[in-house]
Amino acid sequence: MKPEHLVLAIETSCDDTSVAILEDGQQLRSHLIAAQDIHKLYGGIVPELASRAHLELLPPMVAQALAEAQVQPHDLTAIAVTHAPGLVGSLVVGVAFAKAYAAALKIPVIGVNHIEAHLHSATLEHGERPYPAVALIVSGGHTELVLIRAFGEYEWLGATLDDAAGEAYDKVAKRLGLGFPGGPVIDRLAASGRADAFAFPRPMLDKPGLDFSFSGLKTAVAHALAPHGEAPYPAGLTADIAASFQAAVVDTLAGKCGRALDRTGAKALDLGGGVACNRALRERLVSVCASRGVALRIPSPRLCADNAGMIALVGARRLAMGQVSGADLDAAASLEASGLLTR
Ligand code: KG4
Ligand code: ZN
Repeated sequence: MKPEHLVLAIETSCDDTSVAILEDGQQLRSHLIAAQDIHKLYGGIVPELASRAHLELLPPMVAQALAEAQVQPHDLTAIAVTHAPGLVGSLVVGVAFAKAYAAALKIPVIGVNHIEAHLHSATLEHGERPYPAVALIVSGGHTELVLIRAFGEYEWLGATLDDAAGEAYDKVAKRLGLGFPGGPVIDRLAASGRADAFAFPRPMLDKPGLDFSFSGLKTAVAHALAPHGEAPYPAGLTADIAASFQAAVVDTLAGKCGRALDRTGAKALDLGGGVACNRALRERLVSVCASRGVALRIPSPRLCADNAGMIALVGARRLAMGQVSGADLDAAASLEASGLLTR
């Protein structure tokens, strides 16, 4: 049977280039994600290099996504593209490509907010959620706790006041001489360390709100390492720091999630962002949700990190609601640019 609609989605907000084709708002016909390894050489993301890489990767990836999905360009119904927030130079590449391609095919383009897409990425695998729901988005650039009353109806519960959770992982990993990105390696090393070796702070957990702060934790790690000089450190010390740091992050994130669920009476907790790949966080949230009878919805690692699948999902929903963008669609760095999400 011929699909009702096929949405091509493009995600270029940071350092991953991703293209997806979604059939009828639920079936991913193809989904490609290219991580840009070049940034590893520099110990962090270099915006100029990210933009150039998106420019090189996008045309062949779109061609491959169409081929894998066995879709011809003229079969496409609309093009969804991340337009905010993110690195503006990277977003511009995706937005310009999407607008030109959509104009050539005479189909609508739909600008999608990247954080809104993270809020819904679990839906691709878990199906529709019960409402209201709470979502925790934890990545290299974001730590956001959001109440979702319905699709498109969001209330900000909390956010980081300084570093994002993933940024804290990356900075601590750098201090430990472990390279970039730091999350996966700290996650792995933490398993062999002692979580009680260092009493790191649980930032803001003793305060009533739902905001976060991770820069003090990074400083506490630096203080603990000061007597030992610079990296490389003995393996046992590295593992103990990793385990103690991770315990502090997980306690903080899980503590605030529990508080947000209690305060809102939410029926589901959705997770998104690269830090949602963290094994200790996933395990802890299982008990946070089970004890409250709340559905825990964690996407597979591929859908936690930046991906075009989630952009396609939100694009298809907006298309169904008749909410397509005009010719003035533009890239914007800030979360608030779409007017949809305000902290
Ligand atoms: O969502 P993402 O792929 O990109 C953006 O930042 O938008 O997230 C990347 C972040 C990095 O900070 C990385 O260190 C962190 O997610 N990360 C992890 C894990 N895997 C990736 N943090 C903790 N544990 C992990 N297993
Ligand atoms: Zn992201």
